[in-house]
Amino acid sequence: MKIQKPGVKDAPKIYQLINRASKEYEVLPRALGYIFENIRDFWVAEEKNCIIGCVALHFVWEDLAEIKSLVVDDDFKGKDIGGSLVKMALGEAEEYRIKKVFVLTFIPDYFKKFGFKVVDKSELPHKIWAECINCPKFPDCNEEAMIKELA
Ligand SMILES: CC(C)(COP(=O)(O)OP(=O)(O)OC[C@H]1O[C@@H](n2cnc3c(N)ncnc32)[C@H](O)[C@@H]1OP(=O)(O)O)[C@@H](O)C(=O)NCCC(=O)NCCS
Repeated sequence: MKIQKPGVKDAPKIYQLINRASKEYEVLPRALGYIFENIRDFWVAEEKNCIIGCVALHFVWEDLAEIKSLVVDDDFKGKDIGGSLVKMALGEAEEYRIKKVFVLTFIPDYFKKFGFKVVDKSELPHKIWAECINCPKFPDCNEEAMIKELA
């Protein structure tokens, strides 16, 4: 298994992975166009030419980034692939001197393992709610906002 940056041609595979997971889990579905436009945010886990996991690190401000679209294929869960993807995204954030990485999630216990702490949503900039406004669950969503401070 390798964690690497995807090529543009990998967008349809990432699209399938995320949208399959969104039917079963609390992950936002993504349009194929969104994935092409944001392909440079992504890291993928690849095994035998198949994409079995993905995560995106999206810069929001000079010192703030968001972790999005963390998904591991059901057949490969529990093998630290999700953990490796999160660590890769955090490492990239550090390289860019990002001070805080946040995630909006329904699985806070998973992110606590990486040092994320639950915060009040009001601590996050209003800019990030642009996506939420288009979600059918808005405004009654019980996603947790979590932040990890980087050194
Ligand atoms: C969350 C997810 C990415 C984890 O990927 P993974 O490769 O299976 O995870 P890892 O192997 O790195 O970690 C496994 C550990 O996480 C724990 N874990 C897995 N899913 C969890 C969850 N929903 N809540 C809390 N802990 C969870 C496991 O119990 C295991 O714990 P252990 O190490 O103490 O045994 C994967 O389960 C997934 O794709 N879920 C559906 C999509 C999703 O919810 N994404 C998060 C969006 S914010």
